[in-house]
Amino acid sequence: MDIKICTTASEAAIYLAQILLERISKNKDLKLGVATGRTMDAVYYNLVNMLKDNQISCHRLKCFALDEYIGLSPEHINSYEYYLNLHFYRPLSIPSENTFILNAYVDDFEKACQEYEQQIKNAGGIDVQILGVGTNGHIGLNEPGSAADSRSRVVALTSSTLQSNKTLFKQEQVPQTALTMGIGTIMEAQECILLATGESKASIIQKIVNGDINGQVPASALKSHKNFTLILDSEAAKLI
Ligand code: GLP
Repeated sequence: MDIKICTTASEAAIYLAQILLERISKNKDLKLGVATGRTMDAVYYNLVNMLKDNQISCHRLKCFALDEYIGLSPEHINSYEYYLNLHFYRPLSIPSENTFILNAYVDDFEKACQEYEQQIKNAGGIDVQILGVGTNGHIGLNEPGSAADSRSRVVALTSSTLQSNKTLFKQEQVPQTALTMGIGTIMEAQECILLATGESKASIIQKIVNGDINGQVPASALKSHKNFTLILDSEAAKLI
């Protein structure tokens, strides 16, 4: 595991955006695993501008989303599909046939998960997977207790996740279930990069960095990945 500590959250987001700019510039057919969440807002903002400034076309880039809430339509403002369209796909005109998501707006979730795993396989696997982390250590929506070899599946969200995502939903209830890539699915990416910023992530970062690999801290599984980088700001790094 490589750890990069930046002074501010904004510098950490730019650092990740620069890595992604470099990976996309070198490989126009890159398969990118994309994350959502507040931490990623600044990453996409900077990356979109960098790609535009450098006139790098993304028409062959393939993107695979980590997770999706069950029951939200793709047009719902809190669906991860909406988020990715807004922050990343539309500003870069990434063709919709190159954007993939676990389809959680269907009847048969198991079939949707199997299809997604197959789509990743058909593309030749994910080259770079970017990740945020929940305050309880979740990656994607693999909550504590998720198996290290888990695949894409239906998950129930913990009260801690419901609580931290509540502010984004205003009056509405946060969906209680979701589809997520499994930890095993994530670990198959050639490279994994996790970005965590802010004081609220300091305690879980301390457990990830200083503790052992432990199913109760799902992100700790990444420590056994052969190419894993953890990018932090000084606030998130303050307990390590
Ligand atoms: C959300 C997302 C995760 C994200 C995490 C952190 O529930 N499903 O993919 O990494 O929680 O979110 P934030 O960046 O808003 O703290």
